[in-house]
Amino acid sequence: MRKVILSLALLSLMSINTAQCYTPTKENLEKRREFQDAKLGIFIHWGIYSMLADGEWVLNNKNINYKKYADLAAGFYPSKFSAEEWVTIAKNAGAKYICITTRHHDGFSMFRTKYSPYNIIEATPFKRDIIKELAEECKKQGIKLHLYYSHLDWGREDYPIGNTGQNLGRPTNKEDWNSYYNFMNNQIKELLTNYGEIGAIWFDGVWDRSEKDWQLEEQYSLIHKIQPQCLIGNNHHKEIIAGEDFQLFEKDLPGKNTTGFATNQKVSQLPLESCETTNDTWGYDIKDNNYKSPEKLIQLLVRNAGMNANLLLNVGPQPNGRFPEESKRNLKAIGEWLEKYGESVYGTRGGTIPSHVWGVTTSKGDTLYVHILNLQDKNLFLPLTNNKVKSAQSMITGEKITYKQDNDGILLKLKEVPTETDHIIKLIIKKQ
Ligand code: GLC
Repeated sequence: MRKVILSLALLSLMSINTAQCYTPTKENLEKRREFQDAKLGIFIHWGIYSMLADGEWVLNNKNINYKKYADLAAGFYPSKFSAEEWVTIAKNAGAKYICITTRHHDGFSMFRTKYSPYNIIEATPFKRDIIKELAEECKKQGIKLHLYYSHLDWGREDYPIGNTGQNLGRPTNKEDWNSYYNFMNNQIKELLTNYGEIGAIWFDGVWDRSEKDWQLEEQYSLIHKIQPQCLIGNNHHKEIIAGEDFQLFEKDLPGKNTTGFATNQKVSQLPLESCETTNDTWGYDIKDNNYKSPEKLIQLLVRNAGMNANLLLNVGPQPNGRFPEESKRNLKAIGEWLEKYGESVYGTRGGTIPSHVWGVTTSKGDTLYVHILNLQDKNLFLPLTNNKVKSAQSMITGEKITYKQDNDGILLKLKEVPTETDHIIKLIIKKQ
């Protein structure tokens, strides 16, 4: 008996150690670089909640009984869903990956799973595995697939109730962390074995029980064991945890905290991604017409790039499976812009000059792209002390830009106050 306890203790120590000493594999590091080059991803929040057209939190926000809510599944039949159309729209927007909700906080699985009948195949008349269809289409069109997976669950009785979903009629005497943890890990194994190569797992929800030990490092090890290259990100709003491959920011640029979510979130050395809604909600909300303009979204993409982060831009498809028209319009405009100016964004890293009210810089090789987003003046001074500039050219007009350079930096002299969404100036830096 003692021997068994000892070896069990050793085993658990070993598993903690593997996670704590997480060294990403070569493939993983390569995927991190590709991820950083990608710059734009499309987030998709879609589930049976879309039918209520009131956002993905409707179950919690309207205190709906969890069993009654589950009845919705029997009416889920998105007759216009087409993976081909979604992936085509994402690609034309210039996105390099799609991140879709496989199971959101409501607990409904949008994929074929053996571990709960509450899933798109068994509980809906639609009976199609949309994750499979998307995975195949993404592969076909050469775009990566990331999977959102909620840690918290408002639909399962074994999930130990946290700060949210308290008034949904769930019993508390069936809470069972081990059973719930095994369930999640089993589903994660399915997601990593049934759909080919997965770009990333995007976790969300540990803030529901922030004091709890979620055994994340073991879960992360499991993922990296099955697909070592698969990137892990977690929207926990905290410092990064061993085993994570990229850092997430919700509705904020890295290091900013306008939402109040990121009180404990310093920017790490990992690849960064910031997610944002196109209007104000993630899941489809029929009343939310507060769509951002294409110009605003392009500027957001550029600001993120200047701060070394990707933008994960959300779409909340309608219950029929179509993207809202406004989202399509925005994505099309972003795609047209990227078609022209993509070289100043894709494959770049945040420039040496800190982001500023006037804009940001991105860099690639010996080129520094100056993105002027909001300048009230014709002159722009850049504190480029270590680099000498060889040439300056506007990417908008193609004209050479006059400049003056000394030890303190460079003064760019424009002919007019720039009014474009992003007036890009390309500086070629002399090799040192
Ligand atoms: C928040 C919300 C969730 C949404 C996520 C996306 O965590 O709870 O509904 O999916 O943000 O960033």
